[in-house]
Amino acid sequence: MGSFPWAEGAAQDDRNTAMTAQPLTYDPSAAARHLRPAARAALAPALEAARKEVFADVALLASGKPISSDKQPLDSGFIEWPARLLRGDFDNLLTRIEASAGRLRDSIDRVVVLGIGGSYMGLRALFEALCHPYHNALTRDERGGAPTLHFEGDNLDNDAASGLLDLLQKRCRDPRHVDQRWGIVVISKSGGTLETAAAFRVFRSALEAYYGPESDEARRLVVPVTGETGKLRDIARAAKYPDVFPIPDGIGGRFSVLTAVGLYPAAVLGIDVRALLQGAADITEQFRTAAAGDNPVLDYTEICHLCERDLGLDVRILSTWGKRLEACGLWYDQLLAESLGKHECGALPLTVVNTRDLHSRGQQHQEGKRDKLVTNVIVDRPSQADVLVPSVPPDRDQDQLNRLAGRPLSALLAAAIAGTNQAYADVDRPTADLHLPKLDAYAVGQLLQMFMLATALEGRLLGINPYGQPGVEAYKNNMGRILYGA
Ligand code: PA5
Repeated sequence: MGSFPWAEGAAQDDRNTAMTAQPLTYDPSAAARHLRPAARAALAPALEAARKEVFADVALLASGKPISSDKQPLDSGFIEWPARLLRGDFDNLLTRIEASAGRLRDSIDRVVVLGIGGSYMGLRALFEALCHPYHNALTRDERGGAPTLHFEGDNLDNDAASGLLDLLQKRCRDPRHVDQRWGIVVISKSGGTLETAAAFRVFRSALEAYYGPESDEARRLVVPVTGETGKLRDIARAAKYPDVFPIPDGIGGRFSVLTAVGLYPAAVLGIDVRALLQGAADITEQFRTAAAGDNPVLDYTEICHLCERDLGLDVRILSTWGKRLEACGLWYDQLLAESLGKHECGALPLTVVNTRDLHSRGQQHQEGKRDKLVTNVIVDRPSQADVLVPSVPPDRDQDQLNRLAGRPLSALLAAAIAGTNQAYADVDRPTADLHLPKLDAYAVGQLLQMFMLATALEGRLLGINPYGQPGVEAYKNNMGRILYGA
């Protein structure tokens, strides 16, 4: 399956070069200035020990040996997963994902994806980062034959669900026409999450009413992605859905974006899932082998940890410079919050999108409490041809922007980034820069895997199990009692 057509409309220099895999880079120099060199040196052995533990976790999980209680749950399976999928492990799972996704893509014009938390946020990150910003508003041809994407099951919001049902009813009237056909990808590892389960009942009923409950479409156009056991697995078996994809044991929800959870719908959309996996596999190798200073996972973790421990910066601002990165940031908010927000510890993650949020949160970041480390995520080159500030006749230059005529928006953005970093530096507020050469599937694969590895590493460094989210059970238990009785 080719890459997403919008990406093919890339900037001229991209069209002229074969796809080259360019590494992301992390420049912490502006933050490192605030740290004592002795403290950095003293942390190095502990970081190295944590790195070893992260890989020992991989080996322990693979060994099938009993896992001690202090290590449970152990969800380190995500670390080697991208490389394993690429080399055809798991009975060529990747090829099967791509083949099934291709069939679904050719059969429908709208896909409803049901899921929440780790079964939702990663796909949203991929969709927003890698698809056309107005994907759903394009025609089928303009989308390169990919369906539109609609998220549900990520809340218990009556009017949102009703709105989507209404849209489906209005646009899908005759199932004989492909542009009036829709399908469901339902994603839940446990298979028992109420938000997703309730939405699946609702949308499955609507789908069966549309195609006929016994129709071939009512089976073929529903693709569950779920754990090996659970209620959704049971439903899939009973309904005889032909395509069901696994969420493996040993990979937790928020670490599952590069399993079928994210890959299957991404492939339906035409995203280059192999490039995503290659980016993830490459940064994993870099984390395993590279020395500090040339190792974004190690270096990022070191800076975040020391800024929190020694400077009291326990608010981590992920400052994304571009709208397409917002959902990656929200995905990271969940990853960090659910992984390290335990035992009354854990930094507070907060994603901003700049320059937009310079006009909302910027004041506080410049002059508010000194509790923030800002990590910029910067895309070095836009994917599409430059949008230039037009020149106008002098009598229409009331905005005085002829001074900028001919300059691309990306140059204005670069000035905003440099100006903001300088403004923070002037008042001794630490920043660090993560650079993505461009926003493509390879870079996004690197970015997501880098954050997952850094979160696992920091957990091991702090002695906090990064896997599992026991605190989330409290609300679920209460809700169950309220709904079902004791
Ligand atoms: O990170 C996690 O494990 C959670 O956020 C889960 O992904 C979320 O609760 C959804 O769970 P499930 O996939 O079992 O429906």
